[in-house]
Amino acid sequence: MKAHMEAHGMSTEDAKQKHRAYVGGMFDEIGELQFDFLKDQGLQEHHCLLDVACGSLRLGHHAIKYLDKARYIGFDHNAWLIEEGIKKELGINWLIQKAPLFIVNDTFNLGEINGNPTYAMCHSLFTHLTKDDIIKCLTSLNRFRWTMVFATFNVGDRAAIRRTRTTTTPSTITSIR
Ligand SMILES: C[S@@+](CC[C@H](N)C(=O)[O-])C[C@H]1O[C@@H](n2cnc3c(N)ncnc32)[C@H](O)[C@@H]1O
Repeated sequence: MKAHMEAHGMSTEDAKQKHRAYVGGMFDEIGELQFDFLKDQGLQEHHCLLDVACGSLRLGHHAIKYLDKARYIGFDHNAWLIEEGIKKELGINWLIQKAPLFIVNDTFNLGEINGNPTYAMCHSLFTHLTKDDIIKCLTSLNRFRWTMVFATFNVGDRAAIRRTRTTTTPSTITSIR
């Protein structure tokens, strides 16, 4: 195993940290930033948070410890990331004590959720999705009654959008929004 990792230029230390690197690095900083932001926006212990594309629990391990039992839902299509996050960031005792729900699929199917989560965080997800998948995700979120939904995204090239607006038909303009 060690030889295999070294052959691929990956040190033992890299492999231990792979779940952190995969979600973009600055694990501690971005995790705390998301968590503090949600609390600033009114997230309280009794609220229910849906962490859309929770990855290796960069936000999740803070939120699970803070929220009341069974008030955190993590969704992602990579089971291995969630497993590593539980093992290396959250810990089994917190898992047992707080009983978070994890949903894994690549169709944005949130049908396993009973009840109504009130806060959602979609951090660094839409930047990785096609337009169709963003629509699928938003459609799936739309069945809940939200207090707040937050998402990060890249603002497009405004000049290019203006050019498109002036050179395309109205129906095409609608499709780029
Ligand atoms: C850059 S990471 C961000 C993870 C997490 N939100 C965070 O801030 O650490 C992007 C995440 O999106 C997940 N992802 C990408 N495409 C997805 C899809 N179609 N369905 C569910 N999750 C997806 C990846 O598995 C990964 O965990």
